[in-house]
Amino acid sequence: MATHRSYALWSYCGLRWSRVMRCSPLPGFRSSWPRGPLGVRHLSQEKQATETHFGFETVSEEEKGDKVYHVFESVAKKYDVMNDMMSLGIHRIWKDMLVWKMHPFPGTQLLDVAGGTGDIAFRFLNYVEAQHKGKLKRQLRAQQNLSWEEIARKYQNEEDPLGGSRVVVCDINKEMLKVGKQKARAQGHKAGLAWVLGDAEELPFDDDKFDVYTIAFGIRNVTHINQALQEAHRVLKPGGRFLCLEFSQVNNPLVSRLYDLYSFQVIPVLGEVIAGDWKSYQYLVESIRQFPSQEEFKEMIQDAGFEKVTYESLTSGIVAIHSGFKL
Ligand SMILES: C[S@@+](CC[C@H](N)C(=O)[O-])C[C@H]1O[C@@H](n2cnc3c(N)ncnc32)[C@H](O)[C@@H]1O
Repeated sequence: MATHRSYALWSYCGLRWSRVMRCSPLPGFRSSWPRGPLGVRHLSQEKQATETHFGFETVSEEEKGDKVYHVFESVAKKYDVMNDMMSLGIHRIWKDMLVWKMHPFPGTQLLDVAGGTGDIAFRFLNYVEAQHKGKLKRQLRAQQNLSWEEIARKYQNEEDPLGGSRVVVCDINKEMLKVGKQKARAQGHKAGLAWVLGDAEELPFDDDKFDVYTIAFGIRNVTHINQALQEAHRVLKPGGRFLCLEFSQVNNPLVSRLYDLYSFQVIPVLGEVIAGDWKSYQYLVESIRQFPSQEEFKEMIQDAGFEKVTYESLTSGIVAIHSGFKL
């Protein structure tokens, strides 16, 4: 970790980029690392069971959970500001696209895992409310002979503006949930929303419970990704949909080079300046490089039992949305 921090500092202080490139795991280096099925560098057989990665560090599985917890505990209050700064606001569009892809029907029961500060949940609630209002309007238009009193009464009787849709936000981190709840109050979201403290690897829900499972920028932080995928499959109803928005593998060499430069040289500096936390943002950048490619992740989703698995790369593959169904 310290080594990567010093690479960024060198370049920050004007040292030559070629030197940084030789030393740091940047473009082109990724594919040459020995990697396991989860993007984990190969370890000796006996160690493989208990060791994993935390960014570019090799740590024990227990340690990883604690370290990830501390990262999000530390960034929770500045999480939204930093997201906007780091992505120049583009994360908002990616999240909108996830909800458009979901295109929830009235009554959809959504589980948003690693839901953090509620970004997907709030978009979902806004979307289903708009859908439901549109439906009500269309129904009223179709009934030509209603008086204005009858129309007013129909609007007033509409007790559930969400048409029965609900979202449960599940996250392992109390601090992230706390910030999420504050945001929900500030944005006026009350109905149809629940917050649950829980681990993606061991969800505190019954089998066959949800229509849609989403996880946005969360799954790369989970220690056993396969376990989280199996849990997603378990809690979905037959016919239910899995949707994952996650950083992925950039497919354009020029974008890849610029993106790596920006990630390793700018983001930790922004983290230090805005949130006073270099290390957490260094981890976020490194964890992105450890995550499987689009095709590798697609296979993992299939291995967990999902069918009709597809993905869409956005912004030259900086992120991808993976989709699969429990059939
Ligand atoms: C990068 S944030 C993403 C938050 C939100 N989904 C978004 O897109 O803005 C990652 C979230 O994953 C959560 N997380 C990490 N490991 C988890 C686990 N094993 N189970 C549930 N949530 C986890 C963290 O607490 C954090 O809130």
